[in-house]
Amino acid sequence: MAGVGRRAFLAMLALIGAGRTLWAQGRQRLRYRPLTRPVLVPLASLATPGRARRFVAQGVSPPSAAIPGERMRINGMVARVAAGDDADCFKAVCVVCPHEQCDVDFVADPGELDPSVVEEIGEVSDPVYLCPCHNSTFTMAGGERLGGPAPRGLYLFRVTGVTGTHVEIGEVEEDVLLFF
Ligand code: FES
Repeated sequence: MAGVGRRAFLAMLALIGAGRTLWAQGRQRLRYRPLTRPVLVPLASLATPGRARRFVAQGVSPPSAAIPGERMRINGMVARVAAGDDADCFKAVCVVCPHEQCDVDFVADPGELDPSVVEEIGEVSDPVYLCPCHNSTFTMAGGERLGGPAPRGLYLFRVTGVTGTHVEIGEVEEDVLLFF
């Protein structure tokens, strides 16, 4: 009987692992669409990990949208998440909260988070995005949801390149252009 219980426990762990893998793959398979023109953010404003900067991008709604071909302004924020000059060292998110569309704030010092937020998400050492409306929180390093009522992580932009002087943001998650 103990053997059956152990096998069931191991099977459950395997299922959880498979679920996590599928979720991660799902994030990687997000569909992106090009912005009308790339946004260029000065590299000097993102000199060290944890620094972030707002930007405004413009996209066009895809053919499958209710109103295809519509130009849309999208507010975003790009953060340096690691040292180096590869595109992977920067992550850009749409600042509109997926819960009820308030704009999220970038909290550079997680020590400033309200204790009730910390109680829900646990201690964090990296900056986070915090929605001021209902306290949904998201990671800086990819916009994943940490807590609160948001049904998913933040919508993403894709950093498409880094030059000697600028970070280039060239694509946005297609769902932004479909649902906003
Ligand atoms: S609108 Fe952001 S948590 Fe509700």
